[in-house]
Order: sequence, then structure tokens, then C-alpha cells
Amino acid sequence: MDTDGRDAGTAHAPTAITPRRPGPPPPGPAPRPFGLPPDDFDRDPLASLNRLRREYGDVFAFAAGKVLVARPAWAHWTLARTNRDTRVDAPPLPPRFQRRPLIRGRVERWMAARRTAQWHRLGRDIAERTAPLIRGRLGDFLDAAGDRPVRLPDCERAALLAADRVFVHDMDDGLRARLFPAARLMLDEGAAAVTLPPWMSLRTRRRLRANDLWIDALTARVAGRRAERREGDPALDMLDLLADARDDDGPVFDDVEIAQTLSINLGNLYAVGGSGLGWLLAAHAAHDPARPAGTDRAVWASAVVKETLRLYPAVSLTSRNLVEDAGFGDVTVPAGTSVFVSPLMLHTDSRWWRDDPARFDPARWLGDDVHDPHAYIPYGSGPRVCTGVHIANAVLENAADLLADRTAAGRPGPPLREWSAITRPRRLRVTVTPNA
Ligand code: HEM
Repeated sequence: MDTDGRDAGTAHAPTAITPRRPGPPPPGPAPRPFGLPPDDFDRDPLASLNRLRREYGDVFAFAAGKVLVARPAWAHWTLARTNRDTRVDAPPLPPRFQRRPLIRGRVERWMAARRTAQWHRLGRDIAERTAPLIRGRLGDFLDAAGDRPVRLPDCERAALLAADRVFVHDMDDGLRARLFPAARLMLDEGAAAVTLPPWMSLRTRRRLRANDLWIDALTARVAGRRAERREGDPALDMLDLLADARDDDGPVFDDVEIAQTLSINLGNLYAVGGSGLGWLLAAHAAHDPARPAGTDRAVWASAVVKETLRLYPAVSLTSRNLVEDAGFGDVTVPAGTSVFVSPLMLHTDSRWWRDDPARFDPARWLGDDVHDPHAYIPYGSGPRVCTGVHIANAVLENAADLLADRTAAGRPGPPLREWSAITRPRRLRVTVTPNA
């Protein structure tokens, strides 16, 4: 799905790539000890991968079992074929290491939860219904940012506070007090579900304990709500939608599955949505985007958000595991390989963009045909596209519109990236003051 909510997977047939005849394996640098990526990868993965792309072409191996594809059509195929030719999730842990079974480890349950929560429609309805609340909370956040510079944790908190009611409409301070200590770990549910050996550090155990307390509190809230709900009550949030889902055997999801689904989304809202908000502030401080005369406010806010997500995508690198051998061009990539796709690489490759992609220029979004249709994937695409597209856009577009009447100032120079599963703005420190 693209950022407008259309499913790119159906709009353009993926370039299917089952090889008829085996081709050569992907080229790449000589393997390093333990199959690690090149030395320069840890410092700046994008620079390292771009260097390899120039040397080896648009499909290459950069570490043992890891291949990157750099063409939009190949990236699209890799994401669009998820749950068929490619897989997101690592196989679940053996039960003796698992404290609770995870909904995302059981793909068909997670896909059912995604369908039930009707991400597309719900996203639009909720975005409309919660827009005043989101805007009000973001306004308070930006007003406070004149007295004390904003840092990344402030953005994470602000993103969560702005939109957590989309998921649990009666979210209160008691439940939030459980959520905040767990929020970072919620992204890493795999770790949160593992049984740790007794020698593991106290700190790690405490973090896992925080996650247990949060999931237990949320599960209790789900159970309470379910007990209170009467047939025909309107669904006010994602919790209701999941709780109301029924098939011939009764409720589709149990309380823990609902709590896990909500928790995954709240974790993403906090960590990924928070980084998105941080990038928006960093971009405003660094580039000071000025609305061209005659451009509608909302159109401009949307262009600023699109451009921020292009040059500073919070997910810079993602991957899928190949179920069967796949051919990209004349190269055959064997089953079991992790195929990597880099939104940031596609977003900054001048072959796929009409105007210089190195420049931060929201005005590029005011014209037509700015890019190859598969070269812009800040939210991913295919069956596992981001579930938070509409909510993230509602938060970011409101923030961009509020920032249009304010001045953001930060550290000199271009924004710095901190590379991990999420690409965060590093050393973010931005003050925001109202324009005269
Ligand atoms: C700037 C904001 C955001 C960006 C750039 C972003 C980006 C992405 C991307 C690229 C993926 C797909 C990763 C892949 O295919 O491997 C993803 C997945 C996901 N996102 Fe977001 N996201 C953002 C905000 C949010 C928000 C606010 C939420 C929740 C409200 C959210 C919930 C999720 C979930 C649950 C998934 C996993 C979907 C699945 O595995 O089926 N994201 N996001």
C-alpha cells in the first residue's frame, strides 16, 4: 500500500521471479569471518550498501545469507509476495523458551487481527474522529518546546499521547504508567516472550518484567471491556473491533491476543511514530521549509511529511526470508536467504526520481510523476504494510501544519542518523517558538 492507502500490490503486478534455469549466485565482497557485513556497514549501512551497489550491481550479497535488491520492481516483488514466496517472521521459539505464544509468531492469527481491525477504513475514520484530540495534544507538546528543547524521548511520548486512544479509547494514567516502561521493549516482542536463564542480568529481567506487567494490565482491561459490552454497542477503538469479532465458534480472538495486537501497535506508535515526529522536527530545523505562495496549507503539510518520510524514513532497511529460490535479473538467490530492501536507498537513488533526490524539497510533491511508483515505500508495501499509515500521517500532518506557524531551531548541520531496527534522529535537540 502506498501512503494514500492504495494497495500497490494489486495496482501493479509484481515482477515475478521464479527462475526457470538456475543462474549464478549473487555477487558480493569476499566473505568476512562469521559471515559479517563489511567493516564500514556498522558506521553507516546506507553508505556501505551504496558502495557495494556501485561495485556489484542491483542485487548483491553483503553478508552470509543476506542479499540486497536495489531495483524498485524487485523490492516491490519481495514485499508484495510476503506470506507466499517470502516470509517476515523467524520461526517461533520452542515452547519451553516461550513464556506466552505470540500472535505475530502465528502468521494466520496476526493476519486475521490485521483484517479484523480493518486498518484502511478504521484508519480513515479514526483519523477523522481523533483529529481534534491529536492536534490538541501536539499543540501542547510544541508549545512546551519553546521553554525546553525537544529530544527524541519527548517525541516518542508525544506521539503516544497524541494517538493512544485510537487503540484504547479509555486509556488512563494508570494504564499509561504500565505502558511507558514497557514501550521500548514492545517492539521487540520476541525478546519480551523469551524465558531468560537465571544468570541473565537484573536489568534485562526488570525490563521483561515491565512488559509482563503491561500485557497483564492490558489483558485485564480487555477482559473488563468485554464483560461490559452489549450487542450493538458501537466500536469506539481498535480494542472493541477485535473484541467484537465473531465466527461460528464464538469470539475470534482471546483476551491475550487482543492485548498483544494492541501492544504491538502502541509500541510502534511510540517508537516509530515518535521517531517520525523527531525527524519532522529535525527536518524543520535543518531545512526551514517555506510554503510557496498560493499553496493550500493542508496540501503543503502533506508535502512536507512526504518529503520528510522520503529523506528520513524511520525504517531504512527491512528484509524478508525467501521461501524458494528466486531470480532477480540473471542472478539466482537461494531459498532461505534474507532479501533486504532499503526504503532509504530507493528514496535517494537518482535513477528513480525526476528531481535531485539528495535535496530536501517538499515542492517536488506538488507536481505529478515525481518518482518510479515503487521507489517510495516509507511505510513498506504488500500484505505486511505498516498498519499505522493513517494514524502516523494524521500525527505528522497535524504536526507539520502546526509547525508552519512556528520556527524550529536545532544543532547546526544536516540531521544525524542513529542506525538500528528503527532509524532515529541522533542527538535531536530542537526548540520551537511561535512566529511573530
Ligand atoms: C513515521 C511513522 C512510521 C513509519 C515510517 C512506519 C514504517 C513502517 C514500515 C516500513 C513497516 C513495514 C516493515 C516491513 O515491511 O518489514 C511498518 C510496519 C508496521 N508498522 Fe509502521 N511506521 C510508522 C508508524 C507506525 C505507527 C504510528 C503504527 C501504529 C499505530 C505502526 C504500526 C506498524 C505495525 C504493527 C507494523 C507491522 C505490520 C506487520 O508486520 O504486519 N507504524 N511500519
